[in-house]
Amino acid sequence: MGLLEGLNPSQKEAVCTTEGPVLVVAGAGSGKTRVLTHRIAYLLEEKGVDPGSILAITFTNKAAGEMKERLQALVGPASRWLWVSTFHAACVRILRQEIAPLGYRSNFVIYDTADQLSLLKSCLKGLDLDDKKFPPKSILHAISNAKNRLWGPERLAREADNLFLDKAAEVYRRYQIRLKELNGLDFDDLLMLTVELFRQHDKVLRYYQHKFRYILVDEYQDTNHAQYVLIRQLASEHRNLCVVGDPDQSIYGWRGANLQNILNFEEDYPEARVIKLEQNYRSTKIILTAANQVISYNSDRKPKALWTENPQGKPLLMVTGETEHHEAGFVAGEIYRQTQGAGRSYKDFAVLYRTNAQSRVFEEAFIRSGIPY
Ligand SMILES: Nc1ncnc2c1ncn2[C@@H]1O[C@H](COP(=O)(O)OP(=O)(O)OP(=O)(O)O)[C@@H](O)[C@H]1O
Ligand SMILES: [Mg+2]
Repeated sequence: MGLLEGLNPSQKEAVCTTEGPVLVVAGAGSGKTRVLTHRIAYLLEEKGVDPGSILAITFTNKAAGEMKERLQALVGPASRWLWVSTFHAACVRILRQEIAPLGYRSNFVIYDTADQLSLLKSCLKGLDLDDKKFPPKSILHAISNAKNRLWGPERLAREADNLFLDKAAEVYRRYQIRLKELNGLDFDDLLMLTVELFRQHDKVLRYYQHKFRYILVDEYQDTNHAQYVLIRQLASEHRNLCVVGDPDQSIYGWRGANLQNILNFEEDYPEARVIKLEQNYRSTKIILTAANQVISYNSDRKPKALWTENPQGKPLLMVTGETEHHEAGFVAGEIYRQTQGAGRSYKDFAVLYRTNAQSRVFEEAFIRSGIPY
């Protein structure tokens, strides 16, 4: 059968286990996104599921767009009725229909960071707070963190253990009142208010719980608390929830992602089927061996061992520079050599560094060698 061709046995299992909670734990390049896409196609084609009852959450708009394109190719026009989007886009869609009971109008405006900062500045002024001591950006961060945890201003005030957070809670209270007067929602409100709506208005919650018979979430290791609660609310009627993720690829802790969401999935959904995808299709054997070594030191993880049928590949090269200048000079020299001799172009290269401050030495070396970056 076409849809299952080109999938390995674990991928097939993840596609065909349509009923009940499923946790797919999988490494980089092991076909997680491919599994989700095929699972949706399978639900539509093989199970005759109504596309309007499927909700698929991706981490970025770009990923949602790509998934929609793939589905359009796999199942044709039925794909129009699917909900394939980010958390935020799904919440906007729900709130545009349902927000009235929360006291906002359906044509609410979505505030971006610049809008938020200017509103915060006026709140600071109103409270007579010095924006040198209480930089709007830091306040914004505190408010955003609170919202990702579903804390209102009162809760933030209660949890505050220093003057800064005390004041941040005050600003938060005022900011939230102003936003509502302006019929505005910031990015974090989209999630927080959807959860609140569902908590307060059982009828609305029951409508969406009933509607979304099948829920799929990609990159589940990067969900924050608000997103986690939202998914629990939505999935609690049918419990056909499939989450896909890799605890070893959790990179958004700094903005509230909670690794425990994926690690605790089996406690939250005791009847869950756990499927591991360990075959990698993207990298050489040597790269995988090195990656397995590195991630084996991670503290919170679900053990897995990636393997591949791909060739051994070229050995990795590790160079220790004596100084940062030596290091940057080596990198620039290597890029220069490979673009001149080996027929590579500049866009084939990526340079990763740990903190922004480290970029400077690289930039200097690139300028010196005439390498555009
Ligand atoms: N069974 C398979 N046979 C051949 N190629 C496959 C198979 N499964 C996945 N691939 C290929 O492996 C690559 C990675 O797949 P995919 O993007 O779905 O992985 P992923 O686990 O979502 O990766 P990431 O960790 O980057 O999110 C893609 O090019 C995909 O086409
Ligand atoms: Mg993916």
